[in-house]
Amino acid sequence: MEAAFEIPLPTLPVETAEFSADPDPWLESARREHPWLARFSHGYIVHGYQATVDLLSDDTRLRPGYGGIVDHYGERGTLWGRFWEENLGTPFEQAHIRQRASVADAFTPRHANQLRPLIQQVMNDLLDEWLPRGAFDFAEFASYFPVTVICSILGVSPEPIPRLRSALEAQFALFGLDLAAKPLIMESWEVLWSFADELVTLREKGDEYDDNSLLDWMIAAARSGKLSETELRFALITLLTAGYDTSKNMLTLVMKLLLEQPESYTRCAEDKDYCRKVVQEALRHSGIGIPFRDVVAEFDYGGFQFRTGDRLVFPASLPGRDPAVFPDPLAFNPERANSNRHVAFGRGRHICLGQFIASAQLQEGLHLIAQRLKNPQLAGDVRWRPFLSVWGLETLPITFTPQS
Ligand code: HEM
Repeated sequence: MEAAFEIPLPTLPVETAEFSADPDPWLESARREHPWLARFSHGYIVHGYQATVDLLSDDTRLRPGYGGIVDHYGERGTLWGRFWEENLGTPFEQAHIRQRASVADAFTPRHANQLRPLIQQVMNDLLDEWLPRGAFDFAEFASYFPVTVICSILGVSPEPIPRLRSALEAQFALFGLDLAAKPLIMESWEVLWSFADELVTLREKGDEYDDNSLLDWMIAAARSGKLSETELRFALITLLTAGYDTSKNMLTLVMKLLLEQPESYTRCAEDKDYCRKVVQEALRHSGIGIPFRDVVAEFDYGGFQFRTGDRLVFPASLPGRDPAVFPDPLAFNPERANSNRHVAFGRGRHICLGQFIASAQLQEGLHLIAQRLKNPQLAGDVRWRPFLSVWGLETLPITFTPQS
């Protein structure tokens, strides 16, 4: 068995703006050289469907690779470094199981369904506020949706949302591994930490416990010793970071895909079940998450030997475009029979905790948008976000006819 680094492999220019705007030409050419693996400047990109499923499910030899990222920025041992190494998505097995279990009850499919009226209320309020403009940047509009829903689930006031939005955007620049972005990443971390710290401190001082507030559950978990005080703050920041860019970018991509298919958009206004199909297919076609993994124990897979310290990255959009599993993969077809095999929420022990809430948000949000925002048209150039952050659109300018 040859070590992976000794085997010739294509390189994907994932750090470039051109790749982010249109990965397919590179992907197609890389696939001709190797069916599932390519290199990038800091490790390997896994792009084949089966390899993504197999490797992301291997939680013992591959672990979320944030330690290497923390070292890259020279931040080992700082609060920020500890956050990325110890938070809910942490590589340490027992700590991960304990932290995940302490909030998991709030993320079951049943709980997500109970949140639907709240999700509808948040979207209707946003549409009331934004529709009279007749034109806006859909990415900006969408950015208020998940963060307002998360604040409502946590049971906290929406007042800090504007300053949280930009801090949450900036934090994900860390995956670009560009040291020039470090000051911005650290500034945004200060905003997130102060928010979490002040919120918990204030709430802990009060004696009113709200059974429906996730934050109060988490505080109760800390009081009973299931979470430390720092873990409690880290968990709060994790829910915000994990649930913000992801849902906002996904909703914006769904809108972009539907701008090109007006009949599908119209059908979304009439048929909520069809919205579910649209969301599944969008997650298949344009998954936006980019799980990182570090190899922690040497292993062989598919003719390669991976060594301890190798970094593997799994951009969710690429396995969704594997023609071996999804025929005609670039076609956006909500009636596709196997869209639900997408890997947009990951696999294995770290599979997205918020996936049922995310799906409910996208489905309910899309249904209301299609009912109230009629005849949307692209009204300018779109800009793409860096591929290795949370992928998606930076801007999506649209005009439309508001429906009262
Ligand atoms: C469309 C929206 C979303 C997408 C595409 C998405 C995608 C993902 C992916 C791919 C992972 C796995 C990361 C890895 O394996 O390293 C993940 C983890 C996670 N997600 Fe999501 N996510 C979304 C929305 C949300 C929401 C709304 C929340 C919470 C409110 C959330 C909370 C989390 C958490 C806490 C984790 C870490 C789980 C763990 O490590 O045990 N996500 N998400």
